[in-house]
Amino acid sequence: MSTPVQEPKVYLPPQELVKSAHISGLEAYQRLVAEAQQDYTGYWARLAREFVTWQTPFTQVLNERDAPFFKWFEDGRLNVSYNCLDVNVERGLGDKTAIIFETDDGQVTRVTYRELLARTCQMANALRSRGIQKGDRVVIYMPMSVEGVVAMQACARIGATHSVVFGGFSAQSLRDRIQDAGAVAVITADEQLRGGKQLPLKAIVDEALSLGGCDTIRDVVVYRRTGGNVGFNAPRDKWLHELLDGQPDRCEPAWVEAEHPLFLLYTSGSTGKPKGVQHSSAGYLLHAALTTKWTFDLKPDDVFWCTADIGWVTGHTYIAYGPLANGGTQVMFEGVPTYPDAGRFWKMIQNHRVTIFYTAPTAIRSLIKAAEANPDVHPKRYDLTSLRILGSVGEPINPAAWEWYHANVGGGRCPIVDTFWQTETGGHMITPLPGATPLVPGSCTLPFPGIVADVVDETGKDVPWGQGGILVVKRPWPAMIRTIWGDPERYKKSYYPADFQGKYYLAGDGAIRDAKTGYFTITGRIDDVLNVSGHRMGTMEIESALVSHTELVAEAAVVGRPDDTTGEAICAFVVLKRPRPTGEEAKQIAKALRDWVGKEIGPIAKPKDIRFGDNLPKTRSGKIMRRLLRSIARGEAITQDTSTLENPAILEQLSQTN
Ligand code: PRX
Repeated sequence: MSTPVQEPKVYLPPQELVKSAHISGLEAYQRLVAEAQQDYTGYWARLAREFVTWQTPFTQVLNERDAPFFKWFEDGRLNVSYNCLDVNVERGLGDKTAIIFETDDGQVTRVTYRELLARTCQMANALRSRGIQKGDRVVIYMPMSVEGVVAMQACARIGATHSVVFGGFSAQSLRDRIQDAGAVAVITADEQLRGGKQLPLKAIVDEALSLGGCDTIRDVVVYRRTGGNVGFNAPRDKWLHELLDGQPDRCEPAWVEAEHPLFLLYTSGSTGKPKGVQHSSAGYLLHAALTTKWTFDLKPDDVFWCTADIGWVTGHTYIAYGPLANGGTQVMFEGVPTYPDAGRFWKMIQNHRVTIFYTAPTAIRSLIKAAEANPDVHPKRYDLTSLRILGSVGEPINPAAWEWYHANVGGGRCPIVDTFWQTETGGHMITPLPGATPLVPGSCTLPFPGIVADVVDETGKDVPWGQGGILVVKRPWPAMIRTIWGDPERYKKSYYPADFQGKYYLAGDGAIRDAKTGYFTITGRIDDVLNVSGHRMGTMEIESALVSHTELVAEAAVVGRPDDTTGEAICAFVVLKRPRPTGEEAKQIAKALRDWVGKEIGPIAKPKDIRFGDNLPKTRSGKIMRRLLRSIARGEAITQDTSTLENPAILEQLSQTN
């Protein structure tokens, strides 16, 4: 007798939403997909006219002559900040709340579109007064704050290319990014306040600049957030409020070409050096605006809340640009989900009557644990009836977490949009649309209309549904990465490799399509990139940080293993320049190395496990056998072929925990 196959549970979109949503019903979704199939460039051109206000309309849609360096809407001109702010004020939304900002300690301020425009103009004028102009790069190292968004919008207004660096990155990482971008200014704050703790951002900037190699920096602009003590290095350093003083609240936008780089955002790849993902102005703005509206079914009365930090791409597309381009109202939060207790998110949803909530599986999983341990912080204790749509981003959401989120946060009535995308893609790629797509927990369902995603084998041949393979995108799309800043060859090699004759965009993830429905499930990265709490980390990056401790470390290999809360955890196997330590000594050295990595890259890169060995498992030709290390890190029995291993005894040693 065969065991019955359990059919996955399907959640249909609520009837009311099917009627009222921007994309209402599966047929509406299919019509859009068909429209894009029949006339790909016509489809995108129609949306680019609908969603973007142009100073000079484009006549060319897609230029593929220099593939894979694609150009979209090439001869059009626009300004992204004008689209996010002025357009809304001109449409009569000047008094509408753009941002409801809540600080770490619970103070709330509301900023209207008119105020946001005025503040952006003042900041833009201040930047211009420092000689910053179109094409210059500006690094933003800021806490979650209205000023952070204003800084991004102000750069966009004058045509400066921003590069936001997440506040959790170390001085060394910040220096590397400033140097690679050749930035002329850094905008920062005295301190960042999260979970009641101060993090000295300005001091980290000082340290970064003292490491050398940042000669391009002329100005450091400091936003006073906490009033904490900071060192001041005149004439380089300036207080933001002093620079803003007397600046006019109007500023003529710089009209830039569609392809003008709006921002660089550094992310991890397979090799040691983070890559500066370069995004365009028009194509990026189009997808930010479009996906915010369709994926979240954003309506004029919604209160949208994306919990990401502006230092990540999610905070770019779904805080700084997408909601504003739609004239939406959004909540922005300075702090962390667990302070003062793990009911903070639920309390904020209740207080601000949030209708659309977008967060990461890691946050959900840690809040499940907290709610199970303490009923006072369980979402059921709060009035979450304002919610109508939930979202998930950054890593796979396991069905158990999905079901909990659906039942306890969404009260069983809110669709969950599990949005698959990447820093490089600019916005959502594979995602349900809440009024159209039946949901299956654990699946990001179907491509966004106009995105031609598929699963292929190593040679680029389609694999049948039901079989795993490599996730690719078969046609360029407007919001895609344009290049890696300063390294076009790496762009080509990473995303349009010769294996697929340079035809397909390689996402770096594996995927499988359901045999019946064609629904996508992401099976994880197929390269040496880890996803820890939704933060992307390169194993080589962490290895380089470890071996840069030249006094202690001879060799290191880093792999990931599954973790209940953070999705993946970082495991490092280290060979020291001294005999293998055990017991207390091993613990001490492991701590020292963790701190070292924290200092080199940032706390998010600290390995959870560190194991010491006399050696690493290697083939006779000297190659580290990482698949064996992966098994050891997971605590699995080694079933793989070890016949090519030079030193089989090492497996036994590494399998012992210190
Ligand atoms: O592995 C995929 C995972 O996160 C990677 C992209 O990371 P990053 O560029 O930092 O952007 C994160 C925010 C968009 C992807 O290659 N990932 C992202 N979203 C999902 C996901 N994995 C599964 N399901 C998702 N919804």
